[in-house]
Amino acid sequence: MKLSIVKTASGKANVSALLFVKQSVQFSDVLTDAAEKQVESVLKGMAEGPFEDMELLEIDDKATLFVNAAKERGISSLDHLRIAAYRLAKRAEQRQIPMVSIMLADAADEQFKAIAHGLHYADYKFDAYKSKKKDNFQVTFEIIAGEHVAEFKKIAEEVAVEQTAIMLTRNMVNTSSADLTPADFVENAKTIVKYTPGLSIKVRDMKQLEKEGFMGIVTVGKGSSRPPFMITLSYDGTKNAKRGERTSADHLVLVGKGLCFDTGGLCLKTPKTMPEMISDMAGAATALAAIQAIATLKLPLKVSAVLCLAENAIGNQSVLPGEIFTAKNGKTVMVDNTDAEGRLALSDGLAEAGLIGATHIVDIATLTGAIVRALGFAVAGFFSNDDPLALNIINSGEACCEKFWSMPLEEEYADEIKDKFADLKNTGSSAPAIIAALFLKEFVPADTAWAHLDIAGTAFVPKKWKYSEYGATGFGVQTLIELARRMSNPTSISADQCSYALQK
Ligand code: BES
Ligand code: ZN
Ligand code: ZN
Repeated sequence: MKLSIVKTASGKANVSALLFVKQSVQFSDVLTDAAEKQVESVLKGMAEGPFEDMELLEIDDKATLFVNAAKERGISSLDHLRIAAYRLAKRAEQRQIPMVSIMLADAADEQFKAIAHGLHYADYKFDAYKSKKKDNFQVTFEIIAGEHVAEFKKIAEEVAVEQTAIMLTRNMVNTSSADLTPADFVENAKTIVKYTPGLSIKVRDMKQLEKEGFMGIVTVGKGSSRPPFMITLSYDGTKNAKRGERTSADHLVLVGKGLCFDTGGLCLKTPKTMPEMISDMAGAATALAAIQAIATLKLPLKVSAVLCLAENAIGNQSVLPGEIFTAKNGKTVMVDNTDAEGRLALSDGLAEAGLIGATHIVDIATLTGAIVRALGFAVAGFFSNDDPLALNIINSGEACCEKFWSMPLEEEYADEIKDKFADLKNTGSSAPAIIAALFLKEFVPADTAWAHLDIAGTAFVPKKWKYSEYGATGFGVQTLIELARRMSNPTSISADQCSYALQK
């Protein structure tokens, strides 16, 4: 896919496309009266039948792909535009149309951004394991931008950076665990750092982790022949601030769960739920991709990412149920269930975030099956000890069509993770997603704003959803980038700015 942003139509396009956001004609200045009437009747036909949501028509003697982006399905109008643009790009590729022009002279910046994202999503293919690869057909989309050429070009560059990050995450998540071990993950991260100016990396192997007392990751990873690692990535964007520009004093640390595979350990998972556990490193891949994009976009904020990488496997060194270890912050933990391993690995990520001076921590993890049952694959659950950060996450998500639902850190269940011998145990008996968050809270450094994003449902979808095929979605990448963007340019946040819901 190629985007060409122009002021007026070059006349070279084979087909022009009209994306309709509302049930009324919105291109009155480019359509003749007769065409306007035709469009009204097509819209009616789309609402009541017999037309499909996308039709190839002759409008004003021009072949026009008419795409209805107006259907309401609990999806925002920006997300409709993404879906419509995705479907348009798929159709154009299928029909091998070399050039499609899209009339967007009247579009707002965020509408163009949504369309550009939708077009990029259509480009994603994961055929690394197919013996026969399909040929790519490149469609050029000529965006008729009128007076917005300069802004749209800037937005298109940003979208390309975000989409590179999303595709990186999706590729890593979709890759078989046999080909993406913790050591492979480290190699990938090193390559990314090499090509991203301003980003630096520190890697701890199992020996160093043991020496420094990061025993959560060691406990989870020691049963595998593929040993664990912790990666700390750093980027100080305040150095990129323009002269005289006030920069934020915040230090955002992203902490990612990187279970390259989760068998459940000795508390083995069932065969039905196990193959999907190739995606249990989605949090770490999301954090890696987000910081890569944040550095590429040169956002003026200090951001780090701590990736907790391990394989939860069965071996003669595997953690035994009932085993007790001492976590980095000195608390002792009894491993009640070896399948609740993500929280153990993340305890070290949270400790490391404190050690490197985080003011804000956002951990991201495919943490619980319970969040999948509660919210499905369209909405991620999150927990936070800080209202401004929570609102910032909801609003950032909303801006990029990723839904986050605030869940309670319910203290009534807090005693359930107290153990008889150790300070804590890793499971309780009530609401498992809340218990997991309460466990993490025990490792959040004092006086630090923190949010925990549980993306177990949204990171990997079992069927086609919006603009993703089966598998990894890249969910969360854009929200983390947008959060960094908003934190680097602080404006006051009030509760009524949030139209989704913040439950306490
Ligand atoms: N990686 C899983 C959570 C998961 C489930 C991710 C479904 C993606 C899709 C996690 O490590 C896990 O196994 N959690 C257990 C915890 C339980 C033993 C307390 C769960 O949720 O069942
Ligand atoms: Zn598990
Ligand atoms: Zn897991």
